[in-house]
Amino acid sequence: MKFQEMRALIRMKPVALDATSRRLGACHDISDLRLAARRRIPRPVFDYTDGGSDEEMSLAGNTEAFRRWRFQPRLLMDVSAPDTTARVLDRLLPLPLALAPTGYTRMMHPDGEVAAARSAERYGLPYTLSTMATTSIEDVAAAARPDLWFQLYILKDSGLTAELVDRAGAAGYRVLVVTVDTVVPGNRIRDNRNGLVIPPELTPGTIASIASRPGYWLRMLRSPAIGFANFAGPAAVTIEQTIKLFSAAVTWDEIAALRERWAGKLVIKGPLGPADARRAAEAGADGIQLSNHGGRQLDRVVAPADLIAPVREAVGPAVTVLADSGIRHGADIAVAIALGADAAVTGRAYLYGLMAGGEAGVDRALGMLASQFKRTLQLLGVTSVAELRKHGRELLIRE
Ligand SMILES: Cc1cc2nc3c(=O)[nH]c(=O)nc-3n(C[C@H](O)[C@H](O)[C@H](O)COP(=O)(O)O)c2cc1C
Repeated sequence: MKFQEMRALIRMKPVALDATSRRLGACHDISDLRLAARRRIPRPVFDYTDGGSDEEMSLAGNTEAFRRWRFQPRLLMDVSAPDTTARVLDRLLPLPLALAPTGYTRMMHPDGEVAAARSAERYGLPYTLSTMATTSIEDVAAAARPDLWFQLYILKDSGLTAELVDRAGAAGYRVLVVTVDTVVPGNRIRDNRNGLVIPPELTPGTIASIASRPGYWLRMLRSPAIGFANFAGPAAVTIEQTIKLFSAAVTWDEIAALRERWAGKLVIKGPLGPADARRAAEAGADGIQLSNHGGRQLDRVVAPADLIAPVREAVGPAVTVLADSGIRHGADIAVAIALGADAAVTGRAYLYGLMAGGEAGVDRALGMLASQFKRTLQLLGVTSVAELRKHGRELLIRE
């Protein structure tokens, strides 16, 4: 057979010319992005992102808790145009999803926080900037304008804590997310084994990694040095040293003080059970972000997926309930909403994308979660997020 004849039979697939598009195009779900990231990123940095604390029981439990649910769909429901929009803290989002705060994001890719914020803006989703960010509150706000949320760690230095809150307000951040599960550092075994120091130091291990991951090091050497961007800190630190900046003496009094200081929406982030969730609402929180820090703090802690239903029952419909830790697929978002959450929040899923291909990789991760979520609604026989919230429990069966 001649080439011309073959050509008529086979449709030629256009070849993506640049390496990033090719690499991302070969990824079809979040676990593909994770593997692509692992191939490109030095082990200590990948492990910092991917790993959890101690025996990683919380980490494993998070994904399992979402996957224990089975769907019982309703069929023949005309799902030709599902409405995936959701109102979250008084803002209509195209999808019930937000991006979680992550420290040291420029260590994963030089475009770091700005790449994630720009991608969030393109998808119309909120982006949460971490206290431990490697791009400042003001620089992120100048570079991208998604619905901006600021995550606060309550520091031992109360003046600095107040200053961060005021700066976030002045720079136009709309929501303050106060993380309450990091009073002491989680025991991050992989980081300890790898001797992780931020920014990565030259050791025999790093030199070996330069040889195996030269692209990563070239990108890093060409970009500004990594360090705390929101306040002055030591030049090179371990995670253990970083968290020593945080106060272990915080109580609900600090939450009350923050409520006084912050005019915008206030969210408390941590593995809050029903009693603590009620207390947070009484202290003036507008929302609760059920989270175990992606399995990076207390090991063997309850999975946030298992807290959604009891917490919703405890706080009633008026308080916003968000859930993170373990979202790896659009179907996980559907489970979270069906159990009573207003939205899900994702951390590693977008970080795997960032490590695999910078801003385009974050786009790829968010695109996957969005299309998986929409398809799940359609196959479930649900025409809107509101309907999923209302009838979700009838659509779920516990394995
Ligand atoms: C690399 C990394 C850094 C993180 N840094 C922070 C942080 O600075 N502040 C915070 O509140 N949570 C932080 N978290 C926790 C996330 O905000 C979120 O709770 C978690 O990633 C959700 O779990 P998931 O990764 O399974 O989606 C971090 C998580 C990761 C993976």
